Amino acid sequence: MADEKKLKVSSEVKKERKSTTTAKKTVRRKKPAVSTKVKEKPKSPEAKEEKKVPKEEVVSEPGKDVKKEVPVQQPVAEPPVVSRHPPKRNPNPRRYSVDLSDIKPTTKYLSGLKGKRSIVGLTAYDAIMSKLISKAGVDFILVGDSVGTTLLGYDTTIPVTIDDMVYHTAAVRRGNPGCLVVADLPFGEASLSFDRLLDSARRLMQNGADAVKIEGGKDVADDIEKLVATGVPVMGHIGLLPQTVKAIGGYRKFGADRDEADNLYTDAISLEEAGCFAVIAEMMDERIATQLARQILPPLIGIGSGDQCDGQILVTHDLLGLTPSPLPSFVKPCATLGLDGLNALSGYVQNIRNRQLVRK
Ligand code: KIV
Repeated sequence: MADEKKLKVSSEVKKERKSTTTAKKTVRRKKPAVSTKVKEKPKSPEAKEEKKVPKEEVVSEPGKDVKKEVPVQQPVAEPPVVSRHPPKRNPNPRRYSVDLSDIKPTTKYLSGLKGKRSIVGLTAYDAIMSKLISKAGVDFILVGDSVGTTLLGYDTTIPVTIDDMVYHTAAVRRGNPGCLVVADLPFGEASLSFDRLLDSARRLMQNGADAVKIEGGKDVADDIEKLVATGVPVMGHIGLLPQTVKAIGGYRKFGADRDEADNLYTDAISLEEAGCFAVIAEMMDERIATQLARQILPPLIGIGSGDQCDGQILVTHDLLGLTPSPLPSFVKPCATLGLDGLNALSGYVQNIRNRQLVRK
């Protein structure tokens, strides 16, 4: 008797399970993962009207006519129209397009990019390059004192003067770039009197700069604070300071030991407190740069400091393979313009020697 009861119960449980499974299946079927809706073709007004009024059918019965409602037949969905002309692909997959309306030439906009997307800066020293890299979509152009080693044939940036910087800043502005233009204050300018510093910043800004860049951390923070209060936006620069290359005895990484890491931290905080809208971190130990980027409010823009900074800056001539001297280890050129130009020019020289003038 007990066994009979058990059997009955277990068969009921089975039934129940079966019905739950069926219910589940039904639910799953009701919600397809991919929408199967087919877009219907727009209907003519008459066709629409037809759908609204339920159809009636007259059924003849002996003696009287009875009107019987029959269900409205839904139109059969037509198969989706597949275009025989697939969308055109970019014929040159290496041609990138950047939405330039996304670039605003203000320091506030640049600072606000932190945490949203990576910031891109490149150097320019003349109108042609300014136009070109602005069209490529950079967020800011730096008229760097690297003009000394890149264009002017110096071994270091030390010989570059404020007159050189004013001249190149004005040329970059004439290229009419759509992004922010930051100009470097050259060697010595931040170490003389504040009046001299202010006057040099004034000259750069009156000749096309939107902001100035100053190398140094806590030692220059007071002057930066005063400049910012005067209305001069300042970009900081810590880590390797190329203007001090004679004092430090060469180019190298910074922040690998504890003392240097502590100093970099103090420098970054001092610049943040002084009101810098962004800070360049050059040749900094990657782990320190990553931590600093997370800790300070202004964007930390790296050069040879790893990929975890808030953005990157490079010397454009290095990037395009235009620099004749050996490149810094962290630069991977994206073109060989120097070599290509040399080959093109050698060909031209040969043609002229052979009296083979290439005509249009
Ligand atoms: O002068 C310059 O180009 C620079 C960049 C390398 C950051 O300071």
